[in-house]
Amino acid sequence: EIHEQPTAVKTTITPRINEGMPDFSECGLDDEKLASYNNIYIVACGTAMHAGMVGKYVIEKLARTRVTVDMASEFRYRDPIVGKGDLVILISQSGETADTREALLISRKKGADTLAFVNVKGSSIAREADMVMYTHAGPEISVASTKAFTVQISMMYMFAFKLAYAKKVITEEECREYVHKLTQIPQLIEKTLTHDDEAQYAASRIMNAESLLYIGRGLDYALSMEGSLKLKEISYIHSEAYAAGELKHGPIALISEQTPVIAIATQSNIIGKTLSNISEVKSRGAKVVLMCSEDTVIKENVADYIIRIPQCDELLMPILAAVPLQLIAYYTAILRLFNLDETIASGIFDGVTYPWEVLPKIKDYIIELGNTLPTEEYDHPSENIWIAKSASVAPTAYINGPCIIGRNAEVRHCAFIRGNAIVGEGAVVGNST
Ligand code: M6R
Repeated sequence: EIHEQPTAVKTTITPRINEGMPDFSECGLDDEKLASYNNIYIVACGTAMHAGMVGKYVIEKLARTRVTVDMASEFRYRDPIVGKGDLVILISQSGETADTREALLISRKKGADTLAFVNVKGSSIAREADMVMYTHAGPEISVASTKAFTVQISMMYMFAFKLAYAKKVITEEECREYVHKLTQIPQLIEKTLTHDDEAQYAASRIMNAESLLYIGRGLDYALSMEGSLKLKEISYIHSEAYAAGELKHGPIALISEQTPVIAIATQSNIIGKTLSNISEVKSRGAKVVLMCSEDTVIKENVADYIIRIPQCDELLMPILAAVPLQLIAYYTAILRLFNLDETIASGIFDGVTYPWEVLPKIKDYIIELGNTLPTEEYDHPSENIWIAKSASVAPTAYINGPCIIGRNAEVRHCAFIRGNAIVGEGAVVGNST
């Protein structure tokens, strides 16, 4: 589904472009009606809500119209101040999420117009909204939304362009230019997908962490929330997303050598600020993976590893930035779960299934230790050390670095491991180790 995104985005935006301009006539929303709304709300859950957050930044920036984004589960229970003359946009892949559906019904009851961006045809939300625009991601099989997110963002862009033009904040020429830039995005997603080995490397750096922080500002903050959700959802590593400027108000206390930070910095007006937040976390020992655009000049040692995203209009960066974030979550999950539960079980190091048959690049980032580890020092503080399935680690072995301890391995008492360790099923870790 990650790799289906170029097609999904193209299929979603193409039918909404008429002679180079955004066209929402399929749901009956013309410029006059659109420009008349007093307030705009975006209500959704999870990933769809993060797409709404991106929408808020873009709509406010381009159309100079205030947008309130709400989690549907909060909106529905707090007697929201919404009514006639307002537009409530509901975003939902399935069109069946109970909280989002209830938010829709409440908004209608209070007299607001409702517009749904939904992927599943004929779903409840699609049927019950006043207006519906379908995203065309195709069936979502994975529970972790990826293509659903990028098509939802694409619809948010189309909406923002349309509203900005309807409100005469941008000219027809500017509107056409934005639409044109959006049509270039599927190609750039393709290009982003070719940087897949960078995501594998980043995954190998974070796979042993117990907790991570994602940071960014503005649009990059919205992306941080989505990146963090993807990681926790499929790799089961705890992570939080923080607006980078908020770090100093408390959460910086959590940062240590053991807490990698993924920083997203694609917006030139605030990149300086984010870079200074990065130096704060680095001074506390955190390893930093920085995501920024191809053209951004970053001084040496600012981050431990940089993932470059193809250059495009900064406003459209979130669609591209979403891709490496999804890949990082995906590869981290493969490394932590697939390998431990499946590959190790089926004979990793017995020459049967190596993860690098699936992810060839990973091999470069992992150090294999043999079956019997004698009394020795293994000093690899910033690599990942794999202790073989059923291996025996001598009592006085000293391992300096993050480890994966294979299934049924025995790490005998008093062995020393410095770094986070993932302990395979059935592995025995002795007293005083
Ligand atoms: O079907 P919906 O878009 O209404 O679902 C809302 C959320 O449950 C959903 O976006 C969820 O957060 C993602 N599948 C997580 O990857």
